[in-house]
Amino acid sequence: MKVIINEKTILDQLVSKKIIDLVKSKPNANLGLATGSTPLGVYQNLVNDYQSNNTDYSQVKTFNLDEYLNLPLDHQQSYHTYMNKQLFDHLNINLENTHFPLENNYLNYPTLLKENPLDLQLLGIGSNGHIGFNEPGTAFNSTTNIVKLASETRNDNARFFSKLSDVPTEAISMGLKDIMMAKEIILMANGKNKAAAIYQLVKGLKSEEWPATILQDHPNVTLYLDFDAASLL
Ligand code: GLP
Repeated sequence: MKVIINEKTILDQLVSKKIIDLVKSKPNANLGLATGSTPLGVYQNLVNDYQSNNTDYSQVKTFNLDEYLNLPLDHQQSYHTYMNKQLFDHLNINLENTHFPLENNYLNYPTLLKENPLDLQLLGIGSNGHIGFNEPGTAFNSTTNIVKLASETRNDNARFFSKLSDVPTEAISMGLKDIMMAKEIILMANGKNKAAAIYQLVKGLKSEEWPATILQDHPNVTLYLDFDAASLL
């Protein structure tokens, strides 16, 4: 596992450059995408690059990691709305090439991912070490499924809703086994509240109690950490 530690704006530049270079060298690349606050700077850079350089996304396919259950798709906090607003609305991507586990029948998602191997999977991480919405205790061989959100995750994400009780209790998440099929994985983390999870990922033993530790077995993972997220290393 490679580890890059720098300021958040530099990390955003490095990661967006990797994605842009990939799309330029492989116009029909398959990208696994994440939501949350962590990748916002990367998405903004991709939009800026598209506006200045016309990087072509017309053949790119995207596969999102997860989605809340029981939120209307057009809800302000649905991951569908997020992706449209932050990225898809601003690129020449074909919306038919964008995939979400809920709308694409989650039970078929692993097959879809086998048919369209991800060239690059972008990940954030939860403060409890979740990736996607695979909470502590998720089996390492899990495939895309309905998951219950941990109370820590609901608390963390309450900032996006008017009150805690509005945060959904369930979601659909790409499984850990599905995530591990990606050819390359980039995990980004910033902020002190990610430091414990990053410590476990880099220095801890592989354990289902810290779902991200499964990445220790992946041959091509790079962590992009700001100084706070890396502060316990
Ligand atoms: C969310 C998402 C994850 C994300 C993580 C961190 O709940 N399900 O895909 O990586 O938690 O979120 P943030 O980037 O807002 O800290």
